[in-house]
Amino acid sequence: MGATGFGVDIGGSGIKGGVVDLVTGRLDGERLRIPTPNPSTPDAVADVVAEIVGKFGWDGPVGVTLPAVVKKGVAHTAANIDKSWLDTDAAALFGKRLEREVVVLNDADAAGVAEIRYGWPGDRDGVVVLLTFGTGIGSALFLDGELVPNTEFGHLEVDGHDAETRAAASIKEEENLSWGEWAHRVTRYITSLENLIWPDLIIVGGGVSKKADKWLPLLDVRTKIVAAELRNDAGIVGAAVAAADG
Ligand code: BGC
Repeated sequence: MGATGFGVDIGGSGIKGGVVDLVTGRLDGERLRIPTPNPSTPDAVADVVAEIVGKFGWDGPVGVTLPAVVKKGVAHTAANIDKSWLDTDAAALFGKRLEREVVVLNDADAAGVAEIRYGWPGDRDGVVVLLTFGTGIGSALFLDGELVPNTEFGHLEVDGHDAETRAAASIKEEENLSWGEWAHRVTRYITSLENLIWPDLIIVGGGVSKKADKWLPLLDVRTKIVAAELRNDAGIVGAAVAAADG
C-alpha cells in the first residue's frame, strides 16, 4: 500500500474528497467539498468527482462512496439520491471519466472500514456495527474486523415505519425534535436492531456524532455504544483505503 490515497464521499448535500494519509487514516491536507448537483444524476455527479480529483492533480487510485447498495461497482438502491442511479455501473462510469480503475462502495461501509482500521483497537473484535446518522441511516457490519458489505439496517421496519424516516439526523432537524425526543426514537430503533443481531459494540457516526455528548448518554440500549473517532471524514478515508487495497 502506498503512503497516500484518495477518497471521494458522495452524500445527499455535498461531495467531499481529499488526499488520505494511509498510515494514520487522517486527511493529508484540506478536503474539498462541492454541493451535490440537483438533480444528482450519475453524469452530473461524475463531473463533480472528476473536478475534485482534478483540483488535487491526483493521478493514483481513487475510491468513491455512494449512499446505495453497491455490488461489483453497480448501484442497486437509490434511497437518498437520484433514482437514475438504479442499476448504474458506477465503477465503469467513474473509471471512464477518471481514466483509471475506480473502486466504489457503500458510504457507511466505507466509514466503517476507516473506523475499524484507524479507530481505537477495542473496535475490532466480535460483532461490531457502525451506524451513520445523517440524511438517512447507514450501517456497516463487521465480524472480527471483516466487513459484511451492504447491510441496510437503516431501513429496518420499526413500529410500521422505515427506521430512517423516523430516526435519521435529518428528521431531527426537519421536525425540530429536542435531543431527548430524538434520542427516544434512536433508542427504539437501536433496541429493534440489537434484538435481531446482538452486536458486541455499536459505533455511531455521521455529522451528528460530533455532538455525541448531547445524545449518547440519553440512549437506553443494551449494547455498549461509542462515537466514531474519525467523525465526518471517515467516508473519504474508507474510500481511499478500499481503492488502495484494490
Ligand atoms: C441508504 C444506504 C446508505 C445510507 C446512508 C440509506 O438510505 O439506503 O445505502 O448507506 O442511507 O447514506
